[in-house]
Amino acid sequence: MRKQTKITLDEKEMPRQWYNIAADLPGTMNPPLGPDGNPIGPEMLAPVFPMNLIEQEVSQERWIDIPEKVLEMLYLWRPTPLVRAYNLEKALGTPARIYYKNESVSPAGSHKPNTAVAQAYYNKEFGIKKLTTETGAGQWGSALAFATSLLGMECKVFMVRVSFDQKPFRKMMMRTWGANCIASPSMETQAGRDILEKYPDTPGSLGIAISEAIEAAVTDKTGQTRYSLGSVLNHVILHQTIIGLETKKQLAKIDEKKVDVVIGCAGGGSNFAGLAFPFVLDKINGAEIDVVAVEPASCPTLTRAPFAYDHGDVAKMTPLMAMHTLGHNFIPPPIHAGGLRYHGISPLISHAVNHDLIRPEAIHQMECYDAAVKFARTEGIIPAPETSHAIASAIREANKAKEEGKEKVIVFNFSGHGLMDLVGYDKFFNGELSDHSLPEEDLAKFTEILKGYPVPTR
Ligand SMILES: Cc1ncc(COP(=O)(O)O)c(C=O)c1O
Repeated sequence: MRKQTKITLDEKEMPRQWYNIAADLPGTMNPPLGPDGNPIGPEMLAPVFPMNLIEQEVSQERWIDIPEKVLEMLYLWRPTPLVRAYNLEKALGTPARIYYKNESVSPAGSHKPNTAVAQAYYNKEFGIKKLTTETGAGQWGSALAFATSLLGMECKVFMVRVSFDQKPFRKMMMRTWGANCIASPSMETQAGRDILEKYPDTPGSLGIAISEAIEAAVTDKTGQTRYSLGSVLNHVILHQTIIGLETKKQLAKIDEKKVDVVIGCAGGGSNFAGLAFPFVLDKINGAEIDVVAVEPASCPTLTRAPFAYDHGDVAKMTPLMAMHTLGHNFIPPPIHAGGLRYHGISPLISHAVNHDLIRPEAIHQMECYDAAVKFARTEGIIPAPETSHAIASAIREANKAKEEGKEKVIVFNFSGHGLMDLVGYDKFFNGELSDHSLPEEDLAKFTEILKGYPVPTR
C-alpha cells in the first residue's frame, strides 16, 4: 500500500532542544586562535557577538533548550514537511525510497531563518538594536531581514557584488522586510575601499563581505550593533539541528527504521549539518549510514583543499579557524550557486570529515542543473541552485541502488527553492553554462597564503 507522501508533525511535536555535536565528536577539536597564535577566550569575540551566543559557540552541553520566544517564531513555518519523492523515484525507476526535508517553506524560502530568528532573539535579549551581515546568493540576508523585522531591529546586509547584480529580487525582499542591502565591496568600509582600489571590477566574495559586515559592527560607537553570520560557526549549526531532529521523528512516524544515506549540499555547512548531525550521532554510536556533504567542483573545499588554520574573511578580522580551506583570498568563478562559494567550511564538519564520519563529494554544475530540472518536472518545486547539488547526489545514489537492486533509504535536505534564481535556469536552457574545475595551479596559488600559519592536528 502506498504510504503517505507528506509526513508532518504538530507544533507540539517540534523538538524543544537543539543538538550540540561538540559533546560527541571523537578526538579533540583544534581551538580558534587569535593573532598571537594562542587560543582565544570568549571575551575576544565580545565586540562581534553577544555573550549569550558566544556561550553557545563554546558550549560542550549535548542538548540546549530552545527558548519559548524562538519556538513561537519558528511555528510560523515549522515543523517543515518530510516528503517522499514518489514521482522522482518512479522517473528514475529506482527501488530506493527517497525522502526530502522541505526547508523551502520558510518565509525567506530556505533553512536560513532557523538560525536567523534565534540569533536575532539572543541579540535582542542582550540589548542589541542593529545587526550587520553578509550574504552570497541573498538567502541569508533575506532570512536575517525577516527575523529582525519580527523583532523590530535594524539590519544592514553586504551582498556579494555578482549576486547583487544577478539577483535583484533578493534585495527587494530585504527592503520589504525593512533591511538595508548594499553591494560588496562597498565604499562604506575600509575593507571595501581597500579591495576596490586594488580590484575595481571584482565580483566580490563572501570573504570580503564578511570583513565589511564585521567592520561595520565593531566600529559602531554606540556599542549597540553586532555582527551575525549565517553559516560555519558552531552556534549556527546548533540552531539548524532542528532539521535533522524533526526528520528523525518523521521517519519514526512512518516506521522507517534504517536510513542508508543522508545528503546535504555544503557551502559553509549549516543546512547539511542541520540535517546530518543528529544522524552522525547514530553513526558515532555504531549505525551504518553514508553521510554525504556535496559541494561544487568549482569550489572544492572538502574534497581538494587542505585542512589548515585560516581566517574566515579577507581582511583577517576573524580568528584563525581549523578547517578545510581554499585560502581566504579565494575568488571563486561566478557559478550560480552563490551560497556554495565560500572558501572555508564549518570546523565541526571538517573535524567530522577527518574522522571519516562524513563523506565529501564534488559535483559539476551541469549535472546539478540537470538534476534540478528533473526534480522540478517530477516533484514540482523549483530548487535553489545550491540545493540542486544535494538532488544530484541523491539521484546518483538512487541510480546506484537500481544497479545493485537494493531498497535503500535516501534522505536529503531540500535547503531552498529557486524562485529568485530563475536567471540561472534561463542560462542553463540557453546553453550559456558550462562546467568548471578549479585548476590545480589556482588551488596552489590561493592556498599559498596559508604557509606560515599554525598547523592544526588531525
Ligand atoms: C538554499 C541554500 N542552500 C544552501 C546554502 C549553503 O549554505 P550552508 O552550507 O550554510 O547551508 C545556501 C547559502 O546561501 C542557500 O541559500
